[in-house]
Amino acid sequence: MRLDVFTLVPDAFAWIRERRPLAAVLGRELEFNVFNYRDTTPLSAGQVDDDPYGGGPGMVLRVDVVAAALDAVYGERPDHRVVALSPQGRQLDQELVEELAEEPALTLLSARFEGFDQRILDHLCTDVISIGPYVLSGGEIPALAVVDAVARRLPGALSAGSGEIESFSAALDGGLEYPHYTRPAEFRGWTVPEILLSGDHGRVAEWRREQSRARSGDQLGAS
Ligand SMILES: C[S@@+](CC[C@H](N)C(=O)[O-])C[C@H]1O[C@@H](n2cnc3c(N)ncnc32)[C@H](O)[C@@H]1O
Repeated sequence: MRLDVFTLVPDAFAWIRERRPLAAVLGRELEFNVFNYRDTTPLSAGQVDDDPYGGGPGMVLRVDVVAAALDAVYGERPDHRVVALSPQGRQLDQELVEELAEEPALTLLSARFEGFDQRILDHLCTDVISIGPYVLSGGEIPALAVVDAVARRLPGALSAGSGEIESFSAALDGGLEYPHYTRPAEFRGWTVPEILLSGDHGRVAEWRREQSRARSGDQLGAS
């Protein structure tokens, strides 16, 4: 998969290359590129945004700047999904992550300040995605969330088996994962459920299924 991010803060993406899951798939299942709108802006002095028409506070990322950035990288209209990150988009969930991880290529556009000129969303993008119903200061954290969630679904990203039984997976019927415990078996009087120390794998598996169902039911009831 090829994953391209366009941003005004390329430094925000440095560390993620060195950590799993990205480090495990980079150069194999994943090509990851970060582009700075300022490097290709057609405006002078690295300008990328402007005052909103109609007045009001903040600066708006310009459509000609984003078009120039996309043209510089793809030459023509990209033949893959181009996703704008915005709090107004379709909310990211595991189903959408699985869908994106199947794509051969994906472009993520982030903005800052007031956000995108609407024509970017209307004419240059195929999707608008939000990571949740709250407003962050820029699209870098949302882009990192998408990159991480997608990368860990690629073959070889995780150690064998660890991505198969987890929250929202088909193995748990889309529900939440059961609780985990590790040593010590007792700490400050806080104990581990006896069954996990029993060595009875069948009963442990059944206990975990029950815990997952109970948590998932609680979550559904709360929403
Ligand atoms: C301060 S926000 C702009 C918010 C916009 N003025 C609004 O009210 O909808 C700046 C940028 O951060 C990113 N952003 C902020 N919150 C986000 C979220 N929940 N999901 C995805 N992107 C987000 C987007 O790229 C957005 O254009």
